[in-house]
Amino acid sequence: MAEKFKRATLSRNFLKTITRKKSPDEMVAEAGAEGLEKTLGVWDLIILGVGAIIGSGIFAVVGICAAGSADGSILGAGPALVISMIIAAVACIFSALCYSEFATMIPVAGGAYTYTFATLGEFAAWMVGWVLMLEYAIGFIAVACAWSNHFVQFMSGFERILPAWLAHPPVWLVNDAFSASKIAAANPDVFIPKFFGVPICINLPAMLIILLITAILVKGTKDSAKMAGIMVFVKLAVIALFVFAGIFFVRPENWTPFVPNGAAGIFSGAFLIFFAYIGFDAIATAAEECKNPQKDLPIGIIGSLMITTLVYVAVALVLTGMQNTSGNIPVPTDFLKAPMAYCMSLHKLNWAAGLISVGSLAGLTSVLLVLEMAATRILYAMSRDHFISQRFQKLHPKFKTPALLTWTVGGLAIVGILTLNLDVAAELCNYGTFTSFIIVCVAVLILRKTDPDRPRPFKVPFSPLFPALGIVCCGGLMVYKSMQPSGSALLFPVWLGVGAVIYLLYGYVKNRINENKLHNEKVELKKQELMNK
Ligand code: ALA
Repeated sequence: MAEKFKRATLSRNFLKTITRKKSPDEMVAEAGAEGLEKTLGVWDLIILGVGAIIGSGIFAVVGICAAGSADGSILGAGPALVISMIIAAVACIFSALCYSEFATMIPVAGGAYTYTFATLGEFAAWMVGWVLMLEYAIGFIAVACAWSNHFVQFMSGFERILPAWLAHPPVWLVNDAFSASKIAAANPDVFIPKFFGVPICINLPAMLIILLITAILVKGTKDSAKMAGIMVFVKLAVIALFVFAGIFFVRPENWTPFVPNGAAGIFSGAFLIFFAYIGFDAIATAAEECKNPQKDLPIGIIGSLMITTLVYVAVALVLTGMQNTSGNIPVPTDFLKAPMAYCMSLHKLNWAAGLISVGSLAGLTSVLLVLEMAATRILYAMSRDHFISQRFQKLHPKFKTPALLTWTVGGLAIVGILTLNLDVAAELCNYGTFTSFIIVCVAVLILRKTDPDRPRPFKVPFSPLFPALGIVCCGGLMVYKSMQPSGSALLFPVWLGVGAVIYLLYGYVKNRINENKLHNEKVELKKQELMNK
């Protein structure tokens, strides 16, 4: 009987501990006392947002979304790509409104991780932090791989002036082992060095860009925002060039049939093109560095999403008007890799194709900057909460950035580049993002019930309808994708399981040790006070 009682008490205590919530006031106070430097204004936020959002999605993935994959495993939306884009944007806008409510209410680093700690407690917060690593850290790896592909393609354009090894570098030097083996299987002339039968491959351009981005981030958030600003300008300029030059080559007959693969094609396109919208939530992770978070954050989050949606719709209309994606004629593989540049060279506008290649490199670079910054800010918040080492809290004496943490994330990404495959990384990134969006929508509903009187400088309109629609849209697309067999659909639950085990063996224990330490310090202080009396 006594044993039974002890066990029941233990499990009750365990449940109580893992659902322990952190008060938003405590979070704001902690951030105020030892937080990051406040340097970002509303334009910096919009630039960060557009910088994070517009990248490989619109410069590369959009081709497959419209025309489907070459092996037929992914259905294309055809000219209805524009509808897929609007569906993905709608799924994002509900979550963006929820992010804005939280970001203005709890303007500290950490985004969805922080909001979950305030509403669902310790364990859920850890799991969200872990899932956000899929979005930001694995997404960072995916975009670095895409950057490397674009860079190699860009260099090949200079084959007349560059030495052959630079214009066409060896496959093993610009790919991960998995992708290189796939290329070698299709082309027996490709050489891959082996050590005891293991292929030796390193994606050198991806590693170098990761090192460069990490160094820029260590130097400072304001500098990173400035740099992202230049790149945002370049990528928007080349997209405008594409739309305004391409409009003259649009043939309306390419838009029929408008929906060649029915609803299945539209939803398949919506799941994939969702990747192109990922990034606006990264603004919320920089909340602690905002000068005026209450006013600027909602404008930054919703503004950058709106700008991007308009840009994407314009690109989709021109792209599907220039290239037939209705299934009437086969679509060339170059369209699938770099659709905008391909459409320009199709009409002999090679100079425009070249500029678009430069723009896509700039676009991907700014996405990399924001994704790595977001990953470090989440980990920074987790370190503040004693889930990971306190050493990561240390700021660089001169630049006031979490330098050790940023270098650690950069180092881990380089290890990831050695092992991860681009497609799987991008799909995993989508799963992570959908999950975090759903949790933020749920968290808004919970906090409205549990803490209705807390001041909310920005409120999601039509709550609970809008947060509920966010949950339905994101959940629907995720379930739709999970029903199709793929590597990422299996890896996602594995990732969640590994996260839960790490929490139990490390995060949980570390937090309890810290609680004991704080308790002992308090007791010691009390003792001293009594003795002094
Ligand atoms: N939205 C980002 C991109 O398209 C992740 O590259």
